Parts: sequence; C-alpha cells; structure tokens
Amino acid sequence: MRIGIFDSGYGGLTILKEIRRRLPQYDYLYLGDNARAPYGSRSFDIVYAFTLQAVERLFQEGCKLVILACNTASAKALRSIQQNDLPAIDPSRRVLGVIRPTVEVIPSLSESRHIGLLATAGTVASHSYAMELEKTAPEINITELACPMWVHLVENNEADAPGADYFVKKYIDQLLGKDPEIDTIVLGCTHYPLLLPKIREYAPEGMRIISQGTLVAESLADYLSRHPEIECDCDKNASTEYITTENPEKFNELASIFMDYPVESKRIIL
Ligand code: DGL
Repeated sequence: MRIGIFDSGYGGLTILKEIRRRLPQYDYLYLGDNARAPYGSRSFDIVYAFTLQAVERLFQEGCKLVILACNTASAKALRSIQQNDLPAIDPSRRVLGVIRPTVEVIPSLSESRHIGLLATAGTVASHSYAMELEKTAPEINITELACPMWVHLVENNEADAPGADYFVKKYIDQLLGKDPEIDTIVLGCTHYPLLLPKIREYAPEGMRIISQGTLVAESLADYLSRHPEIECDCDKNASTEYITTENPEKFNELASIFMDYPVESKRIIL
C-alpha cells in the first residue's frame, strides 16, 4: 500500500517534498488534477465531487492513506468524505487534510497574537481556519485574505517572472492594511510556497512566513506512529510515482523544477 498525496495541481508538491524528506522510507503516489486546476474559485459541490473522484482513484491505485495536500479540498471536501463516503467505500482507509496540522501550531507562532492567512477564495470563504482556531485558540486574531491570482501564476510557471511582483505586493499590502499588528503570515494554500522569494521580498522585515510542508510532514509522522495498523500496511521501498490529468510532459517539466530531480509522470483520466 502506498501513501497518496493529492492536489488540484502542482501545489501539493511542496507538501510531498517535505513528507519525503521527513519520511523517505515510504512509497508515495502523487496525483495532480492539473487539467481542472485551479479549484480555488470553484463551488463547494464541484470541489467535493472532484476531490472524491481523486481519492477513489488513489484508493484504486493501492493507497491506504490519502493526504489532501490542498487547503481548498481540505476545507470543502474532507469532512464529507471522512463522514459520509469513507464508511461506504472502505472504513479501513484514511483521508487526512492540511488545515488541522497547521491550526495546531499557529498559536505558538505569533507574539502579537495577530495572524494573517493568505489562501484561495474557497478556503477563505469556508472560514475553516477561523472556525478551527475559535475552538482551540480563541485569543488569536486572524485576518483572512484571498489571493485569486497566485495559483494561476504557479500553474502557468510564472512564479519567478517579473509580472508576478505586482500581484504578490498587492495582496501582502492588502493584508497588512487590514491589520497592521500581524506578525505572522500563514500561507494557507500549498501553491504559495513557490512564490516565497517574492513574498519575502514584499513582506516587512521580521515578518514570520509559514509554509505548511514541514508542519504536515511532522503531523503525518506523528499520525503513523500512533496508528500502527496503517503504518504496517505502508510499503517501504522509498519510491514516488506521479500521475496527472494534464499533459505529462508539461507536468514533468515544472514538477522536476519544484522537486529538484527529474520527474516522470503518467496521464490519467478521472
Ligand atoms: N493548492 C491548493 C490549496 O492549497 C489549491 C489551489 C487551487 O487549485 O486553487 O488550496
């Protein structure tokens, strides 16, 4: 059995990279639904339907555990899949998201107790971060802002291009304009770490900028140590395969840059 990692496109690679660094022994299958990315501005029903299709496909491909390495899917589909679909499909399989592991560490990150969340329109509209924080750390002030252009920049390999500067600066300025006391910015979309050099350039000095990769990797390591019944079923050949719903050559080119080694993907139809 492999561990499945799913994202609408390339963003989940930022999570896969850190998971492989932290847990190199396991076998992974990465699925990017690049043909239908971005998910960020899609309605609840559509994100749920696409995510369920992806999860079912990863199960068919032999994944016991699937990580939704996508905040939009975690916000809009995770709960329904866990509560309604999994019991019918196969109660021994697991689907986990990226929001809970992030929210668990947020309270320890900020001194001012004012946090900014940059995410897709879908994640922001769901208020998943604010609601989770309200339960666990109600003293934290969270300001959420959607950055509708950022995923497009990443999916179209424009993250390093000069044209990206305008949109990176625009959303950072908007966020800090809403709450100048913010001392920590959480990148609540797995695509955004690919814009990190520009985000750092336009954020004020001393601003803490949090990417989710290491948080999710640590949380997965902890989960597997607490669930030997899942861990024992996970193959350990240190392999990773990639499947995409778009052109594999295009996927390979960009994914190889993100992963720092040559990626060979196959195309699938969901
Ligand atoms: N990477 C995803 C996320 O974390 C999805 C971005 C998108 O498809 O809009 O939200």
